[in-house]
Formats: sequence, structure tokens, C-alpha cells
Amino acid sequence: MKRLTLGIALSLALVACTDQGQAPADGAKGKQPTGDVAAGKALAERECKGCHGLDGKGAAPAIPHLAAQRDRYLVAALLAYRDGKRTHAAVRDLAKNMTEADARNVAVYYASLPPVQSVADKGAKRISPYDHGKALSGACAKCHGADGNSKTPGTPTLAGQQPQYLVIAIQEYLKQERKAAPMHALLPGLTRLDMESLALYFASQPPAERSAPPFGDPKAGEPLTAVCGGCHGANGVSTDSATPSLASQDPRYLVDAVKAYRTTRKRENMRLYVTGLSEKDIESIAAFYSVQKSHAPEKGETLVKDLSDKCDRCHGNGVETAALTVPKIKGQDRDYLIMALRAYRDDRRESSLMHKMSLPYSDSIIESLASAYADQPAK
Ligand code: HEC
Ligand code: HEC
Ligand code: HEC
Ligand code: HEC
Repeated sequence: MKRLTLGIALSLALVACTDQGQAPADGAKGKQPTGDVAAGKALAERECKGCHGLDGKGAAPAIPHLAAQRDRYLVAALLAYRDGKRTHAAVRDLAKNMTEADARNVAVYYASLPPVQSVADKGAKRISPYDHGKALSGACAKCHGADGNSKTPGTPTLAGQQPQYLVIAIQEYLKQERKAAPMHALLPGLTRLDMESLALYFASQPPAERSAPPFGDPKAGEPLTAVCGGCHGANGVSTDSATPSLASQDPRYLVDAVKAYRTTRKRENMRLYVTGLSEKDIESIAAFYSVQKSHAPEKGETLVKDLSDKCDRCHGNGVETAALTVPKIKGQDRDYLIMALRAYRDDRRESSLMHKMSLPYSDSIIESLASAYADQPAK
């Protein structure tokens, strides 16, 4: 699968989850490993206690809790370290020196313990990327309009724009690949999290409909857009997170943007398509796109909740089949969850299933999901 370097293709994430997210039918309960709890405890005392505790609680952030975890999953994880499918030097060395009986014993020991009840760190501020973006967007409203619906000719609407494109556009200003409008002096202070959050917020706002502009002829513009639809979507409603929607965009801005590809905006693939157009053609294309209806490509306000509902199909309540052992993640250490999800996304941990599931997530979404699970009581 094609790697997304800017991880905010959230719609893709939802599709991936829908395709892959069917919880396996419960019923065919997997064979439980049998093991010797006392022998497992002795091994834990010798080899594991320093990091995982005798009570199965990770001794420091980013060390996973093992208490009450499924024994079959623990065995599978230890074998994955031994075989190099999971990488962590210290754990790998330990796993290599273990027999399969050792692994089973220590797994049934930790699985038999009561779950760790995390002392939810009360001071910790949980960020919702959507709310964070909304708070930051106040600084943009003066020009881009309330909720990103611009009423100023020449200033683009950001509402309903594709999120990955918004991040790209901000970066183009920062790298001075696009001539910065004077206000964008405030952009350099934005962190990655800020940009992704702003993008998610604006992508979740419904774009307002527009009436025909005083220039151009939408009817004459329509046939000229035949070559544009392959990338920008039917009637300018893009379905690709990195390609901008043109529908409902400010028409003056569209004219300026098309012309900019002949001069200051250096995108060869766009320049090719717009070099042959006359001034009148450009105005008609802009008029056509500006009156097309568009819609918000994201639902940022409920995104984390919607995603975790999908995760819960497998991680919710004890799905375990012969074919699949799904680890418990509720109440797991937050930093460990973040690390694990990034490892799947970035292909450092082998699991084609979880990789597909986490591939398109931005760090801000991963952190929100990890917080949501870490804060739930372990069972
Ligand atoms: C030096 C500290 C350390 C010691 C000692 C240690 N572990 Fe770990 N263990 C870790 C860390 C850190 C991770 C997470 C590594 C990763 O990112 O994959 C981990 C992960 C694991 C996992 C995977 C858990 C999951 O949710 O996927 C299992 C199982 C495990 N350890 C079992 C053991 C056992 C059994 C022992 C003793 C024989 C042991 N570990 C000793 C630090 C340690
Ligand atoms: C003082 C007015 C003003 C303010 C404030 C402002 N912008 Fe802009 N913005 C503009 C103008 C004008 C353009 C068009 C510039 C161009 O032609 O490249 C623009 C373009 C953009 C674009 C490119 C859109 C596209 O379709 O390519 C993005 C993204 C953007 N602004 C984000 C922001 C964000 C985020 C903020 C708030 C942190 C902000 N702007 C604040 C005036 C403003
Ligand atoms: C091969 C795919 C492709 C085709 C075909 C294409 N575009 Fe684009 N277009 C893009 C991409 C990708 C971008 C964003 C580039 C960037 O970051 O500057 C873009 C950007 C734009 C923008 C700037 C939008 C903004 O918000 O700043 C306009 C306007 C535009 N295209 C109009 C057109 C028109 C009109 C046509 C047809 C005549 C067309 N494009 C054909 C891929 C395409
Ligand atoms: C189709 C079932 C399924 C769905 C849906 C699913 N997972 Fe998983 N998940 C698994 C399986 C199986 C594993 C074990 C993979 C392995 O061995 O590395 C896993 C492992 C994990 C782990 C590693 C746990 C540990 O102890 O190391 C985390 C974290 C995780 N999933 C989070 C999520 C999140 C967040 C979502 C939703 C975005 C999700 N999963 C959706 C099946 C699923």
C-alpha cells in the first residue's frame, strides 16, 4: 500500500477500518495455553520483575502492563520478539533464552493476575485535535470567515477543504514555495499538531453555497473542466485527502490560483493543465466551480469516538478465536499504546492487520486514541 507521509488521510482510515474492521465471529474459542503458574512466577521474579513488576504493572511509562492480558497473546508476543518480528533488544534477548514452556508458564502467570487499575493521571490534559483546531482557528476567521467560509473575494474558503491538502498548503507558505499573504506571518509558530488540528477542524466545517459571480460563465466553464475531474473529483468535490476541492471555492481566489501555477506556484502537474487556458476560460472555470455544492470530508468532532467504536469490534469485549488473538488495550499504559500504534503505522511492528488499521493516522489522532484507551478501566 502506498505510504502516506502526511498522516492525516482520515477518510482513508475509516474506509480501511470498515473493510477490515469486522470482528471475527466469537465462538471458536482458541485453545488456551496450559502452563505452570508457580514456575511462571519464579521466572517473572528472576527476569521480568524489574520492568513489568510481579503484579504485572509496567514499572515506567512505555513499559506495557501484562497483568490480566490474554495468555495466548503474551505467548505470541514473546515468540514474535524471539523471531525478530518485534524489535526491542532487551526483550528479544530474554525471549531468545526462553523455551516455549517458559513462555507459556510466565504468560499464564501474568494472565492470572488482577488487571492494573491505572491511577489516571488527573493533571494530564487530553487534547482533542478538533477542539484544539477550533481554538486556533479564531486567528484565521478575520480573513477566512467564521468556520472558514470566506466572504472576501480573493481569500480562499478553508471550510470543507481536504485536510492533507490544508497541511501541505500551510507548509508551502512556511517553505516560501508560495508567496505568503502578509497575515501568514502567524503561521511559523504552528507546530505539526497545530497544523493537523487546524486542518481537521476546517475539513469538518460545511462549505457554504455560493451564487454565480459577476464574471465568467458557469455553462461555458463546465466542458473545460473535463480534464480536471480526474484529480479534483466530479464537479470539483475532491475525494483525495491531498488534492484540493474546488467546488464552493471563492471564484476570485480560483482565478488567482490558476494563474499562480503559471508563475509562482511550482507544481508541474498543475501547470501543464492550465497553461493553454485564456483569461476568459479561467474565469468561466472559476465561475463553474464556485457554484458547485460541496460537503465536509471529515467529521472531526466525533472522529476519535467513531474510530474507537471500530477498534472495539475487536478490542472491545473479549474477542478471541482460534485464528486471532486480540490483546486487551483498555487501561494499558498510554505511552506504550502510542508507541505500539506508531510502530504499526511506520511498519516497525509486523501485523498487516493493525498496520492497515493505523496507517493513515496522524500523531494527534494516535495520541487521542491512546488516551481514550489508557483512561478506561482495565478488565
Ligand atoms: C528491561 C526492561 C524489561 C524486562 C526485564 C522485560 N521486559 Fe517485557 N517489555 C519491556 C518493554 C519496554 C516492552 C515494550 C517493547 C516494545 O515496544 O515492543 C516489553 C514488552 C513485553 C511484551 C509485549 C506486551 C504487549 O502488550 O504486546 C511481553 C509479552 C513481555 N514484554 C514479556 C516479558 C517477560 C515475560 C519478561 C521476563 C522474562 C520481560 N518482558 C522482561 C521491557 C522489559
Ligand atoms: C489577514 C488575512 C488572513 C489571515 C488572518 C489568515 N489568512 Fe490564510 N490566506 C489569506 C489569503 C489572502 C490567502 C490566499 C493567498 C494566496 O493566494 O496564496 C490565504 C490562503 C491560505 C491557505 C491556502 C488555501 C488554499 O486553498 O490553497 C491556507 C491553508 C491558509 N490561508 C490558512 C490560514 C490559517 C490556518 C490561518 C490562521 C492561523 C490563516 N490562513 C489566516 C488571508 C489570511
Ligand atoms: C493530475 C492531477 C490534477 C489535474 C488533472 C488538475 N489538477 Fe489542479 N491540483 C492538483 C493538485 C495535486 C493540486 C495541489 C497542488 C499544490 O499543492 O499546489 C492542485 C491545485 C489546484 C488549484 C489550487 C487550489 C487551491 O485551493 O489553492 C486550482 C485552482 C486547480 N488545481 C485547478 C485545476 C483546474 C482548473 C484543472 C483542469 C484544467 C486542474 N486543476 C487539473 C492536481 C490536478
Ligand atoms: C480486526 C480486528 C482489529 C481491529 C478492528 C483493531 N485491532 Fe488492534 N489489534 C488486533 C490484533 C489481532 C492485534 C495483535 C497484533 C500483533 O500481534 O501485533 C492488535 C494489536 C493492537 C495493539 C497493540 C497492543 C499491545 O499490547 O501491544 C494496539 C495498541 C491496538 N491493536 C490498537 C487498536 C486501535 C486503536 C484500533 C482502532 C483504530 C484497533 N486496534 C483496531 C486486532 C484489531
